[in-house]
Amino acid sequence: MLEKLMEMKESAKEKISEAKTIQELNETKSLYLGKKSPLQALFSQMKDLTNEGKKELGQKINEFKTMVEEEVNKRLEKIKEEEVERRLKMEAIDVTLPGKEIPVGALHVLTKTIEEMEDIFLSMGYSVVEGPEVEEDKFNFEMMNLPKNHPARDMQDSFYINPNILLRTHTSPVQARTMLKAKGEPIKVICPGKVYRRDDDDATHSHQFMQLEGLVVDKDISMADLKGTLSLLMQKMLGKNTKIRFRPSYFPFTEPSVEVDVTCFKCGGKGCPLCKGSGWIEVLGGGKVHPNVLKMAGYDPNVYTGFAFGIGIERIAMLKHGIDDIRNFYISDPRFLKQF
Ligand code: PHE
Repeated sequence: MLEKLMEMKESAKEKISEAKTIQELNETKSLYLGKKSPLQALFSQMKDLTNEGKKELGQKINEFKTMVEEEVNKRLEKIKEEEVERRLKMEAIDVTLPGKEIPVGALHVLTKTIEEMEDIFLSMGYSVVEGPEVEEDKFNFEMMNLPKNHPARDMQDSFYINPNILLRTHTSPVQARTMLKAKGEPIKVICPGKVYRRDDDDATHSHQFMQLEGLVVDKDISMADLKGTLSLLMQKMLGKNTKIRFRPSYFPFTEPSVEVDVTCFKCGGKGCPLCKGSGWIEVLGGGKVHPNVLKMAGYDPNVYTGFAFGIGIERIAMLKHGIDDIRNFYISDPRFLKQF
């Protein structure tokens, strides 16, 4: 009987270690300890033994039971561990898979150009002001020394809402608005914004574009101040070797008036296809504020002088980045926009 028990010990150990699931393990356990197990048969044979024999067998049976229980518990732990490992493997995240790209937007190249110019002017003590895009004839023309029927209106006669209201054709009306507000005090402002003109759209013209207006009004302001200011601006925007030149011109609201050219950023002034061989590229108009404009806005032209200028923002961005068609700015093609 004892031998049988020893045999059972071996086979029980083996069976228990082979159990793969908790259910299998429970089945094995009852196979050896349950009601129908060979152990019960041993019990029933006990009555035939001597007292000594009973004691010995009882002890062995208890040892056997403890052994089975211990082995079962050990195996149970093992099975649980294996289960955890299996789940970990199954649910593992492959961190080497490429992630999903979240597209982020960025500022438009024109907005960036404006911000760059604003920074430069802010560092020179200017303030940034704004004005309406739907403007009165009074500000857009009359207060800029362009009375009704003035021939110079013809260049800009554009998008009218009614005979007195139109989409502003330049940012210059903000000059008049700013002067009226300042009530005779000195002025140093810039105003970036959209303007609208009856222009045929082509590679360098658009019916809607952007300007940056500048206005300084104070005592003893001269053309030299204008030149120094614009030189510095162009050097910072287009490179420190950039030079500017003034060419005589005409605007009703400035006297004298100039067109301002910069040395071609591509050839440095030698002449190339971009600057049409001249070495210079026109970027803005300006001049000393016309006495009539000062007078109409409440400034005494005998005491105050000033300069004003209007820069084409697209022009500057095109020069800076080598963009050859103004329409690129407005068609919102990401292949273009992404480059800046
Ligand atoms: N307003 C002019 C234009 O649009 C530019 C300019 C502004 C010229 C200020 C002189 C002074 O062409």
